[in-house]
Amino acid sequence: MNTPFRFTTCRAGSEPVLKRDIATHFAGELTPAFMKPQFITWKVRSPGFSPPRTLSTFARVSGISLGLCKTIAELVDHARKLTTKPIRLHVFPRVTPEDGIEAATWQRMDVLEAEITRELQQAGVQLETRLPDAHGDLVLDVIVGEKDDEPLFLGHHEHQASSHAQPGGLPRITLPEAVPSRAWLKLEQALVWRGWDKLDLRGHTALDLGCAPGGATYALLQRGMNVLGIDTGEMNPSVLQLAQAQGVRFDHWRTAAGRLNLTALPQDVSLLLCDINLAPPEVLPQIARIQDAVQARRLILTIKLNTPALEDRAHEFIDAVRDWAPAPVFATQLAANRREICVCAG
Ligand SMILES: C[S@@+](CC[C@H](N)C(=O)[O-])C[C@H]1O[C@@H](n2cnc3c(N)ncnc32)[C@H](O)[C@@H]1O
Repeated sequence: MNTPFRFTTCRAGSEPVLKRDIATHFAGELTPAFMKPQFITWKVRSPGFSPPRTLSTFARVSGISLGLCKTIAELVDHARKLTTKPIRLHVFPRVTPEDGIEAATWQRMDVLEAEITRELQQAGVQLETRLPDAHGDLVLDVIVGEKDDEPLFLGHHEHQASSHAQPGGLPRITLPEAVPSRAWLKLEQALVWRGWDKLDLRGHTALDLGCAPGGATYALLQRGMNVLGIDTGEMNPSVLQLAQAQGVRFDHWRTAAGRLNLTALPQDVSLLLCDINLAPPEVLPQIARIQDAVQARRLILTIKLNTPALEDRAHEFIDAVRDWAPAPVFATQLAANRREICVCAG
């Protein structure tokens, strides 16, 4: 029998689009039940209806709800009944600021996680800690409120290729002061989500569309990549300084992406990035044209969805990317994304 409730976590401010997305795609089969900022549970209306594992691009984590737990003993009881196979324990905060989570919040999570781990082990529950996460791994999600007296929310999901391996989809990366823009954080989070942070990118070439003032380029140069950036705007001088210090190449073509001379582009592009602040119907054909010329092996695209009408077309834009991008294509709303989603391909 299907468990009657599902849960989703999301970015602060994405609750309305998450609700619209799920209402549209599940035609009333899932209805909102319990809501807190960045967190919604859903009632499965028909007993025979089995929702897919991932409910929405706007849900950073989604899974089966086990409900609220006032004590760790209650939580352990649920976990014991759930399965005999090893589980991965993910303890993470419900409220997540877009520029990263404070060290004090992670310390609170770590203390709680250590306590839950101890009690689960004492109860004979096996924990999986080996890396990397494998398809089908069972993850126990413990979602923690802002106050210590708030009950813990408990759910579970199965790890799959589109999932975030970090608890809550929240890599422990904070925005350094020295970087030119918060695009640095978005790029680092995208790399971690896809596991591409483990790749040795030294000496490879990246093409960065909409590169100014330079946060994402800065991250790529730090990883030893050569970067060709396209933007009508100015770069922060620290970008060129970093390229020189790293002994890598940074070129800036001050032109609009739609006016690029395609024949002059490098031929061996490992990574194509786009963070141009134009609406998807305008920018996607431009990226398609450039990708057709360079055949980049991997893509990281930030798709701007600045109005509800554009948000409601997110699936259409992701499908459009599937038409010309290397497979597989995955989309999510990263913790550092604002009114935008991150689409990765390759
Ligand atoms: C959100 S910012 C990009 C931030 C950048 N990725 C970083 O790492 O700092 C959007 C950029 O898109 C650029 N842009 C807008 N239209 C463009 C176009 N047609 N071609 C290239 N760049 C464009 C803007 O000049 C702006 O710098």
